[in-house]
Amino acid sequence: MFVLEEQLMIDPVVVDWQITSRCTRSCGFCFGPKSEPDLSYRDILKVVGNLKNLGTKALELTGGEPLMRPDIDEIIRHIKKLKIAMCLFTNCDLYIQHRRAIFENVNVLGIPIEGSSEDVHDKLRGKDSFVAVMHALEDAYSNSETKFQICTVVTAQNYLNLASIEHILRPFEDRIILWKLYELIRYPQKGQNNESEIGKKVFDKYCMPKLGKRFDKNKIVFDTLKKRNKSYFLMKPNGDVFIPLLGLHPTEFCVGNLLREPQKTKENWNKWVNLEGYAKPYRSVFRKDSELKRQFLG
Ligand SMILES: C[S@@+](CC[C@H](N)C(=O)[O-])C[C@H]1O[C@@H](n2cnc3c(N)ncnc32)[C@H](O)[C@@H]1O
Ligand code: SF4
Repeated sequence: MFVLEEQLMIDPVVVDWQITSRCTRSCGFCFGPKSEPDLSYRDILKVVGNLKNLGTKALELTGGEPLMRPDIDEIIRHIKKLKIAMCLFTNCDLYIQHRRAIFENVNVLGIPIEGSSEDVHDKLRGKDSFVAVMHALEDAYSNSETKFQICTVVTAQNYLNLASIEHILRPFEDRIILWKLYELIRYPQKGQNNESEIGKKVFDKYCMPKLGKRFDKNKIVFDTLKKRNKSYFLMKPNGDVFIPLLGLHPTEFCVGNLLREPQKTKENWNKWVNLEGYAKPYRSVFRKDSELKRQFLG
């Protein structure tokens, strides 16, 4: 019986890790973790080892702002040594200090672009953010082989600006694997504020018809709450693993702790995750890129 259950279980092949809750910014729409202590470097290495044993092939490092960890360069070097692929999501404020380590170890750089100009973008992300993200995009494009995932949280403040964002992304298109447009998730308990969501109907009517004119439409994905519901293996800064329950009142459901009880956490996650949603190709940038898929996901 146990053998049968083991066979039916799937591995957390792609893991999203909020590696710190600290950040250089305080974007009004952000659903990131709020003021939790980081794990020590020693515990981080233990978590990475546990993930490797559970079958993880790709890590999406997020936060908070991952580059806020003073030891982030050593962490990403260690992850690369274990042959785990990496996508690093950063707001790019601290990019310059870490660009070498990023070039050498990170497969995909996740860059947030909320608007096609300082005016739109910085209203959502704060002063000087647009300059920082565009500089990182241009610099990494010219000086490394890093690929990109662009992220845009679609709100009432920027949904009419998406075609212009597409325009500024055009020169980088050959290295952009995916442009993810996120439907805004609002967790009532997190005190997110003022940005207002637009629904899928508005997106389909006013946004989608204007997109894909200067950019391969297959690379543009609207990530709705419905698609994301239960479709993740997400880890908090303290190693707690949760899946997002994105119904009428979004919440996070903890299935265990990866530092203390990795095997049990994997078993619990298997009971709760929407396996079909997790496995679907839009779930991860790694599945969209044939080279990364072959190299890491098999
Ligand atoms: C939480 S941030 C962490 C990484 C980095 N600090 C950054 O801003 O890219 C990761 C991504 O989550 C997305 N995000 C943040 N808040 C969101 C929300 N309320 N709904 C949907 N997506 C959100 C944004 O695209 C953001 O780039
Ligand atoms: S930079 Fe990223 S983590 Fe920080 S507040 Fe903004 S969205 Fe959240």
